[in-house]
Amino acid sequence: MTDEVLIGELAQAQLLVRALIEDLDDATYRTRYHADLSPIGWHLGHCVYFECLWLHEKIRGDASVTAPIADLYTPPKIPKEQRGGLLPPREALLEWAGELQSYNLDYLRNLRPEWQQHDLFSDDYVVHFVLQHYSQHYETMIMELTQKALREHHPDANAQPALQAAPLSGERIDIPAGHYRVGGEAPQAYDNELPPQHAELGPFSISRNPVSNAEYLAFMEDGGYQREELWKVDAWKWRQRNNIEYPDHWRRDPDSNWYSVGLRGAYELTGEAPVSGISHYEARAFARWANARLPHEYQWEAACRSGVLEQTGRVWEWCENVFHPYAGFEPFPYPEYSASWFDDKHCVLRGGSLHTRPSIKRPSFRNFYEADKRHIFSGLRLAF
Ligand code: AVJ
Ligand code: FE
Repeated sequence: MTDEVLIGELAQAQLLVRALIEDLDDATYRTRYHADLSPIGWHLGHCVYFECLWLHEKIRGDASVTAPIADLYTPPKIPKEQRGGLLPPREALLEWAGELQSYNLDYLRNLRPEWQQHDLFSDDYVVHFVLQHYSQHYETMIMELTQKALREHHPDANAQPALQAAPLSGERIDIPAGHYRVGGEAPQAYDNELPPQHAELGPFSISRNPVSNAEYLAFMEDGGYQREELWKVDAWKWRQRNNIEYPDHWRRDPDSNWYSVGLRGAYELTGEAPVSGISHYEARAFARWANARLPHEYQWEAACRSGVLEQTGRVWEWCENVFHPYAGFEPFPYPEYSASWFDDKHCVLRGGSLHTRPSIKRPSFRNFYEADKRHIFSGLRLAF
């Protein structure tokens, strides 16, 4: 028997991903709103495909649902620009998804003993896995809807109070040198969180709070985006080539006041809220400007587990290091989840954003993106 609470969480995750599509028209559902993203509708098909792949094809060798659609929903098999045109009509996909999703919930509720024996079902591993996969795609869909809102937004329509710059708050926590446990626990942990590590850390300090909008504006007003000495060579080239001068979701009205655009259009940038929508390159330049650096992900996790960090889970926090395998790493259950991305190009983010579902918010969870990505809900916290 699969845990009933867990099945309830899966049902909710299925519903949320479907709900994001229910208000869209067919054309919007097929549109890509950002070069790094897929059409919004594709995510629903991909999530249901993935659920059936693990629950039916892998566990009981039944590929009747998955084989015919594998080419469309397996990311390496299909370029993002071809995905929208190949999706079924929106109505048909929603109906197909809803039926399979409820079939899968029933299958889990009445799981036959012979399937229950499968290794992937030990501690309900595969159910956690499918649930977390929905959660990750849910957040990506929110990113796309944010890009849609940005594209449709008219700057003259803004009536938000102006954001004011503020000096760095400077509240730091000292973490003593020592051995710290880093890593996740079965059955929730992804392969990249395992096996747990004993990290030997020197003493360091870390900000109690993430960098705020007001602090970030102080960096901008101090010429942070113009001062080459704050940026590493690659970062500066990227900044110049793309003419980057402010966070991805920020806009400026005709009176030169900054505000932000989210799912429901323009909103006030409050000074205290964590800055979001910046790349690793920008986070590093900010840290340099503040005479600080980004925390290593082991420092972040050790500090988080000590209970001294405020506002974790409001914005993904860029860490200093690239995504790498822990000592003793073994790919599980498939290498494309983590092992394909140990390429020294992906940087780690920790914590989670306001759009991150509870199933993936934990101190050990490792998110990863390339250093130039800023359509994500990403900010930073300073280390010293
Ligand atoms: C870890 C967020 C970069 O969304 O591309 C989703 C997670 N892996 N499906 C992504 C993922 C397989 C991944 N990120
Ligand atoms: Fe996926």
